Amino acid sequence: MIEEVLPPGEVPPEEIQHANRIVCEAFSDMFRSILGPIASKKMLTSEMTKEEVVELVSSSGYTLLKELRYDHPTADILTESGIALGDAVGDGVATMLVLLGELVRRGFELRDMGIHQNTVAHGYEMALEHARSVLKEISVGVNVKDDETLRKVARTALKKSDYWDENELAGIIVEAIKRISDKKPIDVDDVLIEAKSGGAVKETKLVDGVLIDREVLDDLPTSVEDAKVALLDFPIEHWEPARITGRKALKEEFPRKRSKAGETEGATGFFFKMTSPNAIKAFYEKRREMFEELLKPILESGANVVCCRWGIDEEAIDYFRKEGIMVMKRVKFTDLQRLERATGAKIVKEPEELTAEKLGKAGRVVQRDLAGVKYVFFEDCPQKKACAILIRGVSNRVLEGIVGEVKSALNAVARVFEEPRVLPGGGAAEIECALRLRKFARSVPRKEQFAIEAFADALEEIPKALARNCGMDALDTLTALRAAHASGNVNAGISALEKEVVADVVERGILDAFVVKEQALISAVEGAIGMLRIHDLHIAKSEVEKEAEDVEAQIAGRTKEWIMKERRAKMRAPKKIVRGRLKY
Ligand SMILES: Nc1ncnc2c1ncn2[C@@H]1O[C@H](COP(=O)(O)OP(=O)(O)OP(=O)(O)O)[C@@H](O)[C@H]1O
Ligand SMILES: [Mg+2]
Repeated sequence: MIEEVLPPGEVPPEEIQHANRIVCEAFSDMFRSILGPIASKKMLTSEMTKEEVVELVSSSGYTLLKELRYDHPTADILTESGIALGDAVGDGVATMLVLLGELVRRGFELRDMGIHQNTVAHGYEMALEHARSVLKEISVGVNVKDDETLRKVARTALKKSDYWDENELAGIIVEAIKRISDKKPIDVDDVLIEAKSGGAVKETKLVDGVLIDREVLDDLPTSVEDAKVALLDFPIEHWEPARITGRKALKEEFPRKRSKAGETEGATGFFFKMTSPNAIKAFYEKRREMFEELLKPILESGANVVCCRWGIDEEAIDYFRKEGIMVMKRVKFTDLQRLERATGAKIVKEPEELTAEKLGKAGRVVQRDLAGVKYVFFEDCPQKKACAILIRGVSNRVLEGIVGEVKSALNAVARVFEEPRVLPGGGAAEIECALRLRKFARSVPRKEQFAIEAFADALEEIPKALARNCGMDALDTLTALRAAHASGNVNAGISALEKEVVADVVERGILDAFVVKEQALISAVEGAIGMLRIHDLHIAKSEVEKEAEDVEAQIAGRTKEWIMKERRAKMRAPKKIVRGRLKY
């Protein structure tokens, strides 16, 4: 691609524009191959060692974009606009990037023909407006209570995978979104997706309530009916000396705030000197007293299930065993928050704050073994919405990728809940828009006409890519589709699974969420116009330079190059995968 960032001021604008065009085209080509249900996947690697290490395998545009890193400002702009769309809508990212690249490519071609970029931009804006009205016209209103339609939307947004049966997963997705749909906008992060590798297991299921990937400590009860749940954000450990080397210094007054979690290097680097034998007894006595003081509010609160974010000392287990309390330690904070919402408990930061009112409820808390991994399930919670999707598969890298694919399908269904309209998928909507745009272009007696036509061509790249990705001939498919639409068949499109052009994609259940497609179009046009308008390149004083100019940095000898190296290393730091579990 671009070999180096060109020095500012020395490069003519044409070269910068040329570079932008090449980057946009490269992005478009890159994402073209992941479009559609049987598209190929991308593998991202990072240079952790000399050997390249596989990091991620996915065909979800949003998931890939979040991991991509390029040292080029144009690539950054494209990545960010894709991520912005992903954050807002959660699906349609690949479509948007393909379109954006095609619009830029064609925009520059028009400029080479002598049409000013502002005219192209104006033409694109006119085309967008027209295309949106066409989309609205051909979209169909749906009833969000009609599960079958929602399942079709989910199935269309899902990729074909060895890990699930699309029909089954589509049902799970719809069920999950229905539960969280009363709060608008719907935040799909409310549905926990737990992806866990392990053997050759293939199991995807919807779990009622909340699930946490922790085990019950030792031989404490593993099933509790009528649970009263305490959520603790403090360690149940003996107090430690205030200064422990090798730890991150914490500002708090109380050493108990610290847990033995994480780096405990140096934790044993302290000692006591006893001057009389009696002192040992007194010391242990006092130590026990203080520990009991810490445990007392927990034991007296009436809780029979305790989830602690931090560590729990062995000694405490005895007390819990006596009371028959189920205890999990090192529960992630995000899980505590989910439990807070589901059970109605309050996360407590200090032992003395724990009272009966702060406890949450669950009909049953039970530890279950799912294909060799222990999970604790909180079922029949007062907040019925809580649910999780559990995906089991072989490899971590692959799992991480497919979690993104499930998320985009969750998002597609969520968008239909918010705006209950769907569009014919499989390229039908794009072909119809292109057809009507060409007609519209002829009614515009100015140079914008060319831009509107270019817009129509760019739209047709989507069905072409869908056809190519499922092994059909792109041009034959395009001509067949054009002919079908010209004869008034609005729903003619591609059925990727059957590898053929079908007269009615809606009948085959290929339905896209209206909002997803509309937003992809809007973002693509905005991005393309932004790109076409970039005239030349200037380099602003970067944060790195500012940091290097700082007196302290100068004293420490941290030069600009040094800081850049540090930052790059940080950006490329490999992601941590904890015990083979990935959580979103
Ligand atoms: N069975 C099918 N036959 C034909 N086309 C399909 C089928 N299922 C989905 N499609 C089409 O695939 C496109 C969506 O593909 P995909 O989900 O890969 O891309 P995206 O939504 O743009 O990006 P991403 O999901 O990566 O954010 C839509 O245009 C949809 O109509
Ligand atoms: Mg999608």
